[in-house]
Amino acid sequence: MSNPELYVGIMSGTSLDGIDTALLDLSQPHPRLIASHFQAYEQPLKDALLDLHLPAHNELHLAQLIANRLARDYAAATLKLLNKAKIAPEQIRAIGCHGQTIRHRPESGYTIQLNNAALLAELTGISVISDFRSRDIAAGGQGAPLVPAFHDRVLRHPDIHRVIVNIGGISNLTDLAPDKPTSGFDCGPGNLLMDAWISRHLGQPYDREGVWSTCGNLLPGLLDTLLSEPFFAAEPPKSSGRDLFNMTWLESHLNGDEAPEDVQATLLALTGKSIADAIAHQCSGAEEIYLCGGGAHNTALVAHLKDALPDCRIAPTAALGMDADWVEAIAFAWLAQQTLLGQPANLPAVTGARHPCALGAIYPA
Ligand SMILES: Nc1ncnc2c1ncn2[C@@H]1O[C@H](COP(=O)(O)OP(=O)(O)OP(=O)(O)O)[C@@H](O)[C@H]1O
Ligand SMILES: [Mg+2]
Repeated sequence: MSNPELYVGIMSGTSLDGIDTALLDLSQPHPRLIASHFQAYEQPLKDALLDLHLPAHNELHLAQLIANRLARDYAAATLKLLNKAKIAPEQIRAIGCHGQTIRHRPESGYTIQLNNAALLAELTGISVISDFRSRDIAAGGQGAPLVPAFHDRVLRHPDIHRVIVNIGGISNLTDLAPDKPTSGFDCGPGNLLMDAWISRHLGQPYDREGVWSTCGNLLPGLLDTLLSEPFFAAEPPKSSGRDLFNMTWLESHLNGDEAPEDVQATLLALTGKSIADAIAHQCSGAEEIYLCGGGAHNTALVAHLKDALPDCRIAPTAALGMDADWVEAIAFAWLAQQTLLGQPANLPAVTGARHPCALGAIYPA
């Protein structure tokens, strides 16, 4: 057996649920997951991050303080992960750390993932690769989604048309058609609107298994109005975030008389239909759909997708040997390895960049 090449991937996505860390051996073509660890965000940090999505007084200072806090939390989560696996920091080649997106504005030429990578390197003694999206945007791309290159490398089948759907805060898909180059794009809101709505009305962070949504009735008029947002019909490349899909956006479409559980049922249908429509229009002939991200646990959402796509087999990515909860963290470990190898890791057909680029910034240990 070859020597292991150990990497840590750290993902903290738009759901603002917390920090996913994964320890990988990337010496073989298929990554081997050695250990994983999730650390939830405390509510005050989540609130502070939500505030930073909107312009505010003294936001540069506040953003830097929160970046420092995040780096400390990333470091603590990494050290717990390594402790679980009984691996010393010196054995790790690098950490690939996505950071926490607070603005995603490719149309203005930037995206911001908060992190203090220098502090993370200092606290862990491990080299850190971060800021994966900026180079793709500099080359004219969306900077997102970046995971399709990873899906292409490890989840493609030579003869079967697969689609990988990640349902995080935002949902994104990767189309792996056997006879075509890989494509992919953001489909729309994943969990973030459902999370925000149940948090407001029931004080819960998310709708476990989608149970609350099943207590309500879908509001067809509201669903149509929400789906009339031009993002849904726009052709790829496209990416999105809380900049567009947020409570202000949702409230602008409500009349205020709706029963809260009916809105939840409609938001679940919005996530489901935007994914199913994207597959029907952009991935024709898809045979197998593999789900990952926290939304893969939403039983009501999975049932909605199965109804909407009766000709496809739908299963979690675990059916392909990759646990649905860790795909994104694994992908950022892989992206870190590509950076150290000097390999381009964006797919111009996905992001719209003018050319392939090596991604990320390196902070040596
Ligand atoms: N058992 C469950 N039932 C319903 N929803 C769930 C369940 N478990 C997790 N979720 C949803 O998944 C979300 C977290 O998903 P995930 O961590 O994949 O998203 P993320 O951090 O935003 O990542 P991404 O980078 O893909 O946006 C939670 O906020 C919640 O909405
Ligand atoms: Mg998460």
